Amino acid sequence: MVAPAIIALGGSLLYGDHDVKTWLGQLRQTIVHLEGNGRKIGLVIGGGKPARDGIQLAEHLVKDRYQLDEIGIAATRLNATILQTMLAEIGCNVADVVPTSTDTAATLFERFDVVVMGGTKPGHTTDAVSVAFARDSGAANVIIATNVSHVYTADPRTNDDAEPIDMLTLSELQEITGKEALDPGQSAAVDPIAVQWAIECGLRIGVLDGRDIRRIEDALEGRPFEGTLVQPE
Ligand code: UTP
Repeated sequence: MVAPAIIALGGSLLYGDHDVKTWLGQLRQTIVHLEGNGRKIGLVIGGGKPARDGIQLAEHLVKDRYQLDEIGIAATRLNATILQTMLAEIGCNVADVVPTSTDTAATLFERFDVVVMGGTKPGHTTDAVSVAFARDSGAANVIIATNVSHVYTADPRTNDDAEPIDMLTLSELQEITGKEALDPGQSAAVDPIAVQWAIECGLRIGVLDGRDIRRIEDALEGRPFEGTLVQPE
């Protein structure tokens, strides 16, 4: 079997200020087009606003971080169900379940062209899930589609001098993200756990602004894309 394309879609892509309905239509067209060309596609969707809102609602009463993570995971599975239903509607051969582990997700490619999932276990985000899904399904690359154009030298939300980076290595990325796991609902350019797992399996990562579907398509087709290419050592 040809290795599937694995794409992490940040939850912000479903709940941002852009025209989300148009974007969803474009995403669906892209997936159907890829499927028509014989590709297998794994989509890992983040929790976005429902995850953050749910965690915020509970966190003054719930102190166990793993339980807060479970709320985030539930939100990712809600979003996965939305995408899965939307793809099934158009006749896409998409898995009829939202798998809860990446090894199960990988085996679903034996029967389906498209597999949509959200989170798996507490302690990391869906960025890390996409890396594990790539590892378990034999993919050499992961696309992390967010609402930021590149990985920056520092957090661009708080640092005016932050510069976008076109290319770097996984260990250089790790110098930017650090190694500490994120708190429940906390966001970062790329989840440090995802970076660590990518180092362990030698994966290449493309980080790009997924609101522009063409950037996702460019990366999927192996063309130069606007964003950051993160190479193994
Ligand atoms: P996300 O994967 O959505 O976080 O998980 P994110 O990428 O930072 O945010 P978006 O989607 O781009 O906006 C949301 C939360 O769900 C829990 C964590 O608490 C995480 O912060 N989560 C998610 C897990 O604990 N395990 C998972 O496998 C996935």
